[in-house]
Amino acid sequence: MGSNIYSEKNKLNDLTGSEWKFSTKSVINKAYPINMQHKLRSQHGGQKPPQLCEDIIKIFTKKGMIVLDPFMGVGGTLLGASLCSRKAIGIDITEKWIEIYKKVSELEKLEIQETYCGDSFKILDKIKNESVDFILTDVPYWDMDSREHTRNKNKTNKSKLNNFDNENWVSKKEWLNTMKKILAKSMKKLKHGKYMAVFIGDMYKDSEYHCLSAELALKMSEIKGLTMKANLIWEDNSKSLHVFGYPAAFIPSMIHQNILIFRRD
Ligand SMILES: C[S@@+](CC[C@H](N)C(=O)[O-])C[C@H]1O[C@@H](n2cnc3c(N)ncnc32)[C@H](O)[C@@H]1O
Repeated sequence: MGSNIYSEKNKLNDLTGSEWKFSTKSVINKAYPINMQHKLRSQHGGQKPPQLCEDIIKIFTKKGMIVLDPFMGVGGTLLGASLCSRKAIGIDITEKWIEIYKKVSELEKLEIQETYCGDSFKILDKIKNESVDFILTDVPYWDMDSREHTRNKNKTNKSKLNNFDNENWVSKKEWLNTMKKILAKSMKKLKHGKYMAVFIGDMYKDSEYHCLSAELALKMSEIKGLTMKANLIWEDNSKSLHVFGYPAAFIPSMIHQNILIFRRD
């Protein structure tokens, strides 16, 4: 351990001893390049750097293994998997995001991975149980996606403008229950002893800090057969800072996200 040698006993990944030691740091503060068709991928507000996903995938898999993302967006996970010669399966409810992912792969001359469009809860039935080596996903933001959906609907349908209020928004409880339902089903696709990593950002909303990472971790602890193993922090130094509460109140500039790590027993 601590050496630059790869041990044949390593069952988890292809890292050498010193790479393994570095990979266990609980804070990721490496600067990730703004590349790989960033402008195209930025049409999706929540895209993750493919190289960050690649780094995480390399900690939990070996070459050729299979990664699943039930909320793939424009494909941070899938692109990361292609970069390090892993196979991947991605699902998203919005066709447009999958199309952008395919376009980016074409432009970057990367393998186009297996994708499905639809509600993960249903699509996951197509994937064989215990067939996947790692899950890397980034859950849809609590109420943000439905807020966006409502806005888009209002843009194209003027008669519904007056309906733009909070009534259609998903409550936090509903969001947590949906995430638990989909992630519990996703877990069944994992082989025993394999890992699941979930990106989740905390949120400051309506003058209150919502520790969504802790709330989601607690909710996921209800899933039988899944044990939480770590809470990694990804510090994103590319985020611009704004002066929110000055000069009267402290309001955090959110430049980090959590990556919750679970293992299937
Ligand atoms: C935070 S984004 C993922 C972003 C992704 N990591 C990337 O790099 O682009 C979450 C995605 O989940 C999708 N989504 C929301 N509900 C879903 C569902 N029930 N089934 C499948 N996808 C869903 C949204 O369309 C959104 O693209």
